[in-house]
Amino acid sequence: MDSTGDKLRQEERDARVLSLYEQVLEIEQRLIPTGLHVFGVAPGGEQMQALLQTVASFDRFDPDPHAASTDSGQTVRALTDLIALGLGLESYQVLVERSGASESRALDRERVEWLLERAIETFLSAPEGQGAAAGAGFLLEEAGVPSGASKPEFDLLCRVREQLSGNAELDALAAALRGDYIVPGPGADIIQNPDVLPTGRNTHAVNPYLIPSRMAVQRAAGVADALLQRFRTEKGRYPETMAMVLWGIDNIKTQGEAVAQALHMLGVKPRRDSLNRATGVEVIPLEVLGRPRIDVVMTVSGIFRDLFGSTMTLLDTAVRTVAELDEPENMNFVRRHVLLQAEQGTTLEDATARVFSNAAGNYGTNVNFMVLDSQWQTGSELGDLFVTRKCFAYGRGRDAGQARAMMENCLARVELTYQNIDSSEIGVTDVDHYFEYLGGVSRAVEQRAGSRPAIYLSDSTNPCAKVRTLEETIQLESRTKTLNPKWYEGLLRHGFSGVAEIEHHVTNTFGWSATAGAVDKWIYDEVAETFVLDDTMLERLKGLNLGSTRSMVGRLLEAAGRGIWAADEEVLERLRGAFEDIDDRIEGVVA
Ligand code: BEZ
Ligand code: MG
Repeated sequence: MDSTGDKLRQEERDARVLSLYEQVLEIEQRLIPTGLHVFGVAPGGEQMQALLQTVASFDRFDPDPHAASTDSGQTVRALTDLIALGLGLESYQVLVERSGASESRALDRERVEWLLERAIETFLSAPEGQGAAAGAGFLLEEAGVPSGASKPEFDLLCRVREQLSGNAELDALAAALRGDYIVPGPGADIIQNPDVLPTGRNTHAVNPYLIPSRMAVQRAAGVADALLQRFRTEKGRYPETMAMVLWGIDNIKTQGEAVAQALHMLGVKPRRDSLNRATGVEVIPLEVLGRPRIDVVMTVSGIFRDLFGSTMTLLDTAVRTVAELDEPENMNFVRRHVLLQAEQGTTLEDATARVFSNAAGNYGTNVNFMVLDSQWQTGSELGDLFVTRKCFAYGRGRDAGQARAMMENCLARVELTYQNIDSSEIGVTDVDHYFEYLGGVSRAVEQRAGSRPAIYLSDSTNPCAKVRTLEETIQLESRTKTLNPKWYEGLLRHGFSGVAEIEHHVTNTFGWSATAGAVDKWIYDEVAETFVLDDTMLERLKGLNLGSTRSMVGRLLEAAGRGIWAADEEVLERLRGAFEDIDDRIEGVVA
């Protein structure tokens, strides 16, 4: 090998090491719940430090309490940004985005994060009432951040800390049981919106007419562009049609970020009337958009349908408006598809249906129940069930009628499926709803389009919202939760419910195999190794919750039996032995 070749190999090696470093950092820094929330108990030391650090990493908008609209107020800059600025570095966002490809940026990023951690420690360990001054003083000295600039963030942290330190949940519950008044408060994730504190209040939702908020529109553009960029990097072009899952509670928490993402994909913005209500759309000209308008099929939950009637009308209006624009078909995929259908005799009304949900009064896809109860033979049954449950069209004048052919027509064109994750508390293996929705729609697409769509999730729990493939997301969740001793030991402290929670994670992981074939072999191997093949662990689990342990071992055997997991025969033997042993014990208990 000549010296040029050596140099190339060295560079390639450096790039790989850096990218690996980036992945390890991502796992290490991920905020994970370490145990269940105990009603009435406030979070302690380590948890408080981690929470405040994450809160301080987000720019946020502090609405002016005296203004009529929630859109006026001031932006509170994230400490990560202020530190990068104070040190004369590039913005924190740039450091995060590019640290995987540049060693000096990786070091700068580490320095910013280290300083943030120390600043929060200084803030927390100062005598009462002096935390903000101590934190601001530290950042002035160590990073040249003017105290005036960091003050709004430290004021916010003081408020969050104080509200987290007390806990009125039990008092509020007792008051509710007495029929007393409970003070209302917004529902959201603490990191997204610290105004959810104090807890123990009567959660209220949103005014759907304010959805999406200006902040949501601003954040959504970056995420939507990153999603399209990711697809382009992998496929070399834009997707013509994508399917997107929209949930109600998520859009309450983020003030409609996912709604704003759908609008951005179509190349429109909400237009607000004189009462500040988002009742119409404004078309973003193609020259400004700089890319084609993507055709978006929206499958919305029953909760979204119930809460956001006016938003479904807005989304439907957006599709109809875009379909009617006089633009070249290669820059307006909605128009292209609508014209194509018109040629085949479909009415404009039918050809523009894009917002689908359950029949009125119905909720969910039932795909999760089929998987949990092992009531399926082939993946296509799961995709069909998704369509059966979700094929009701919503929007102006559509009357929630059954529209199976229209939905199937749309799904047959889909190349990309997507859902936004908005909370560090609930991820793709925490609940069965992600696989029933995103997995369900992906499976329905695969059958109808004839090939598996690219499946992505965006992670707006991070200030620099990141797009990952489904496989990457499951790997990250498995490493940071299911297979992470910090996570499962935290749960095991809760005994019976902790084991049940671990079993749910294994089953939800399995749900991703059933619907999307998205789980690597090593994940099942390591689940088996951690929870079943380790005798001490298996005894602990059985002692705490025999039923859930049985379900977990059974699920692993089911994965192997269905050909989802190519387990070693020796491992299967041990799993079967464990299963029989648990069965005997259960019979012993019942007899
Ligand atoms: C929703 O917020 O729309 C939702 C919540 C739980 C499961 C599915 C959807
Ligand atoms: Mg549920």
